[in-house]
Amino acid sequence: MQAKFLSALILVSASLVSAGTQEVPGEVYFCGKNNWVAPCKDLIFELGRCQKAATFLDGGAQIASIGPNNHTVCIGYKSANCSGSASWGFTFPGDADGGVASGTNFTALQSLVCYDKSL
Ligand SMILES: *[C@@H]1O[C@H](CO)[C@@H](O)[C@H](O)[C@H]1NC(C)=O
Ligand SMILES: *[C@@H]1O[C@H](CO)[C@@H](O)[C@H](O)[C@H]1NC(C)=O
Ligand SMILES: *[C@@H]1O[C@H](CO)[C@@H](O)[C@H](O)[C@H]1NC(C)=O
Repeated sequence: MQAKFLSALILVSASLVSAGTQEVPGEVYFCGKNNWVAPCKDLIFELGRCQKAATFLDGGAQIASIGPNNHTVCIGYKSANCSGSASWGFTFPGDADGGVASGTNFTALQSLVCYDKSL
């Protein structure tokens, strides 16, 4: 009985450990300065749910670097509620200079919705 309980416990902790190191869809890394310079936040969004850019960094700081993980694709909008036409698309490794080098300046980004890239 006790041995069974112990092995069940070990199985549970093993799966928790691997869940912690595995990349989940919906995870995005944001920084306030170019090239992933602080302030930064690593957020895991609910898939398909519109997120307001003003909530990503403390104090609603401007976002300069956006890095979805390898399982995530995010669509950006100029409206605060993901309405209107999509203005940006972000995939791994992301964009680290506000979209300047890629000609997709995302200073005006106000909202973002992310999906599982494999779907
Ligand atoms: C991203 O995922 C693809 C498969 O979905 C894999 O082939 C590739 O090596 C991954 N790249 C990184 C940097 O993890
Ligand atoms: C989204 O915001 C726009 C203004 O930016 C507003 O006209 C529209 O009604 C909003 N839509 C929803 C579903 O809240
Ligand atoms: C990016 O767009 C903002 C306005 O949305 C503008 O103020 C800024 O000058 C633009 N940056 C570049 C490098 O074009």
